[in-house]
Amino acid sequence: MASIFGKTSSGETVHCYRLYGKENAYVEFLDYGASIHAICVPDKNGVLCDVALGFSDISYYEKQDCYIGATVGRVCNRIENSTFTLNGKTYPLYANDGKNHLHGGKIGFDKKIWQAEEHDDSITFTYVSVDGEEGYPGTLTVSVTYTFDKNNKLTILHTATTNKDTLCALTNHCYFNLNGDSSTTILNHILTLYADSFTSADAESIPHGEIVPVTGTPMDFTTPTQIGKGIDSDYEPIRFGKGYDHNWILNNTDIVARAYSEKSGIQMDMTTTLPGVQFYSGNFLDGSLIGKNNVPVTNRSGFCLESQYFPNAINVDNFEKPLLKAGDVYKHQTTYQFSIKK
Ligand code: GLA
Repeated sequence: MASIFGKTSSGETVHCYRLYGKENAYVEFLDYGASIHAICVPDKNGVLCDVALGFSDISYYEKQDCYIGATVGRVCNRIENSTFTLNGKTYPLYANDGKNHLHGGKIGFDKKIWQAEEHDDSITFTYVSVDGEEGYPGTLTVSVTYTFDKNNKLTILHTATTNKDTLCALTNHCYFNLNGDSSTTILNHILTLYADSFTSADAESIPHGEIVPVTGTPMDFTTPTQIGKGIDSDYEPIRFGKGYDHNWILNNTDIVARAYSEKSGIQMDMTTTLPGVQFYSGNFLDGSLIGKNNVPVTNRSGFCLESQYFPNAINVDNFEKPLLKAGDVYKHQTTYQFSIKK
């Protein structure tokens, strides 16, 4: 059932929707940005705690540029020099990250109000992005279906169709804090990424095709490793990213990532049908936004695991392209399973 969350500065009503899992666990979503607003799951003492960052006030969702909780598109992550060529035509895009295009442009999918449709165990949000919006060709009809099952598994299914060949690469930009306490950092979390390599990027976080093995570097999360261990190291990619903000190339495993907080006992397992994941350690959060319960959203108080095609893929020969042809259906699924570590 929907409740009214607030009104945007232009007077549009934003709704909040809730899905229940087991042991009273629930996830809340907003039609603004088709966002995840809260993920409340039991900790090791059975007490429900919120493991997702978000805001109580819609004005913060409107003004934030951290994409907290949001569905990101039409193309997530970066496109170098804000331009790409498709079927022989070059398309200029809005440069909102230096000279590069980030997370859909000036007004991305994260800032749109989506049409909601509630089902028994799921909610579908739909948005129609018209031909030429943010410079992209083709009218794209995009849907996100969220399911939260009786095992506390959150499933995100993205689908899209277009009337002209276009790019489509959607992700969800939820920031997790598995301590269940956003006044703490995520540096104590133990992370495993089932990824033997990552895409090296330049100082503007743009990959150009180079693939680097993680072995012997602070990017190695192939065994459970504390996030804080190497986050301030002098390794060039870490300096460039101001912490972790890179695309890991996923091994072909069922679970692609596992994160755990000893404090709460909560563990999160991730699966995805996409080839990469951006592990971002909340390096640009600066305390200027006030989150839920009046807690400022401070540096590294949340981390993201964004399933994705590799950043800048459209401009890099050896990367799989996020192309959606007219008549085809874009489809990818990502899941986050919450449990108490045994
Ligand atoms: C992604 C990017 C980061 C940053 C955040 C939003 O994770 O890779 O560099 O832009 O989104 O602040």
